[in-house]
Amino acid sequence: MGEYHTPVMLPEVLEQLAMRTDGVYIDATLGGGGYAEAMLLASNNARVVGFDTDPAAQAFATERLQTFGERFILIKENFAKLKEALAREGIAHIDGVVYDLGVSSHQLDTTSIGLSYRIEAPLDMRLDPRLAISAKEIIAEYDEQELKRIFRKYGEEPYSGPIARKIVQARATQPIETTTKLAAVITEGIREDKKNETLSRIFQALRIEVNRELENLESSLEQAVELLAGGGRMVVVAYHSLEDRIVKEFFKQESAPEFGAGEVKALKERVDLSRARLRVLTKKPLTPSEEEIARNPRARSAKLRAAERIGR
Ligand SMILES: C[S@@+](CC[C@H](N)C(=O)[O-])C[C@H]1O[C@@H](n2cnc3c(N)ncnc32)[C@H](O)[C@@H]1O
Repeated sequence: MGEYHTPVMLPEVLEQLAMRTDGVYIDATLGGGGYAEAMLLASNNARVVGFDTDPAAQAFATERLQTFGERFILIKENFAKLKEALAREGIAHIDGVVYDLGVSSHQLDTTSIGLSYRIEAPLDMRLDPRLAISAKEIIAEYDEQELKRIFRKYGEEPYSGPIARKIVQARATQPIETTTKLAAVITEGIREDKKNETLSRIFQALRIEVNRELENLESSLEQAVELLAGGGRMVVVAYHSLEDRIVKEFFKQESAPEFGAGEVKALKERVDLSRARLRVLTKKPLTPSEEEIARNPRARSAKLRAAERIGR
C-alpha cells in the first residue's frame, strides 16, 4: 500500500485533528486513503467522507477502505463542491476536515497525466479527467501575455516573459504535446544547474492553472468553516508557498489576531473581531521531522496548519 503514496506527517495530522469517538470527518484529498484509513482506525464510530476527483485514487482508496463498510463514504468530487456534495449525502455539519494538498506520489510517477517533466507523457495534468482544458490546450492556445501571467503568478518564475516567448515561437513551427518536448523548449538556453528549478516552477504553474487549484482551495476553506461544528478542527498540509499563504491568510482573517497598536485601525476594517470563527492552533506551521524527510523526501516541503472552530 505504501507504494501508492506515503502519508506525510500522519501522526501530527491526527494529533491536530483530535477526533472524537464519533462524528463526521472529511478527508478532502483522499489520494491513496492513508489519512482516511488512520482516521477510521483512530475512532470506533466516526464516519469518514473522502473527496477525490482522480479515478485511480478513488479505486485504490475504495478497495483499501472496504473493510470499514458504511463508515467510509467516497465522493467523486472536487473539494470546492464540499457543501453541495455533503448536502446530497444529508450532511449539514462536520466534526473535522483534513486537506493534504497537491498530488500523490502515484500521480507524479504515473505516465498517464504528465505531471512530471522527467517522464515522457502527453501534456495533460488534469487531476479530474472531466475538466475541459488540459495543459496541452493551454500551451497551444494561450497567448504570450496569458502564459507569462500564469508562469509568474502560479510559478513565481522570474523569467516568465522569455519562457512564454520561447513557447509561442516553438509552437509556431511544431505542436508541443508532450512533457519532454515542453521541457526541451523551456530549458533551451538555460544554464544546466538552473534547469530543474525552472522546470519545477513552470510545471507547477501549469498544474495550478489546469486544475484551478488556488481558487478551489479558497472556496473550499470557506465552505469548511461554515460546516464545522464548534470545537471541530481544520488541518491543512501544504507543499508550496502559494497554497500555504492562502491557508495562513484565511486562518488570520477568520481568527482574532493580536494586533500591534499601530495595526489595529487598519486591520479592524478587514476583520470583525466579534465574528471570529477560528482559533489558530499552530502559530507557526508544523514541519516534518528530519527522520521523516530522510525516509520520505517528498515530505520535505510540507507545512501543516491547524485551527479550531469557535463561536458555535
Ligand atoms: C497528496 S494526495 C493525498 C494523499 C493522502 N493523504 C494519503 O495519505 O494517501 C492529494 C490527493 O488529492 C486529490 N486532490 C487534489 N486537489 C483536489 C481537489 N480540489 N478536490 C478533490 N481532490 C483533490 C489528488 O487527486 C490526490 O489524489
